[in-house]
Amino acid sequence: MTGVCKNWSTWLKKTRFSYMTQEQVQQTINWLNSIKDAVINIADIKDGQKIADFGCGSGLLGFGVLEKFEDRVEIIFSDKFEDCLDECKKILNELKIKSNVKFLQSDITKINLKKEYLDTAMTRSVLVHVPDKQKAFSELFRILKKGGCYCAFEPIISQNTRYYELLAPDSVSDYFEFKKAEKEFMENPLDPLVNFSAQSLDDNLYEAGFYDVTVNINKVTSKYSPNKDAIKNWFTLPPAPGQKTVKERFLDYFEEKKVDNFIAEVQNALSDKEVTISSDTALIKAIK
Ligand SMILES: C[S@@+](CC[C@H](N)C(=O)[O-])C[C@H]1O[C@@H](n2cnc3c(N)ncnc32)[C@H](O)[C@@H]1O
Repeated sequence: MTGVCKNWSTWLKKTRFSYMTQEQVQQTINWLNSIKDAVINIADIKDGQKIADFGCGSGLLGFGVLEKFEDRVEIIFSDKFEDCLDECKKILNELKIKSNVKFLQSDITKINLKKEYLDTAMTRSVLVHVPDKQKAFSELFRILKKGGCYCAFEPIISQNTRYYELLAPDSVSDYFEFKKAEKEFMENPLDPLVNFSAQSLDDNLYEAGFYDVTVNINKVTSKYSPNKDAIKNWFTLPPAPGQKTVKERFLDYFEEKKVDNFIAEVQNALSDKEVTISSDTALIKAIK
């Protein structure tokens, strides 16, 4: 793992922005704020309710709820990792609202709350880091009241444009070997980042017991012209703490010299040329 990615709070504050220009950072912050608003809007929160932001990180959703409802709701910031809760506590210290806020260190697959405690459970880009989504949904179902709501936003990484789709077969050596390897690691059932689809989330939620489930997919297509450094970052920046980079994934198949040569050839083939990349995201609402 590289030195820039030690734990989740560092990743959320620094690593995820490390390769971006100031303009891209601002675009990402705007995008995160729009997701926060979308999730909170579909949650249809009412005064007096008990809400939790699971896998809260630096509290995107939790602080969004606090901004809107202040102390008129009980809000729980919950994460598997203490450093994320510490980050939220620091932010909270700068706000005026202190009452009705709780912190809970808990894995989303084994939530330390009694059953039927919450009105609303929310997550943003958390399931994508949880290998067993079914277990997480069963726990969320257990701790929600009857009629309670689970709302979430998740990227469906398995549907992202693949590198081999951007390349002409004759633009890199051993194109078909790299294509086969990429297809394989992008469909690895043990990799939490890619072991799910919109359909499997829908199935898992019904299986957990939710009766009214909506998984709305938004396909975003963007065109841009990456330079050589940006292309290198595709291969060398970790997608999350403890997760292999794309280069490391290829190293499971090929020697380093061959992978480095592939990266250099991708840089030559694509740098400063327009590429079209698409990705799917899901806005999820499920009622118990
Ligand atoms: C991409 S971050 C998202 C953080 C935050 N929800 C946001 O919207 O900015 C993923 C978060 O999931 C948390 N996480 C990962 N695995 C988890 C698990 N099994 N249980 C609870 N939280 C988890 C991480 O600690 C991290 O805070």
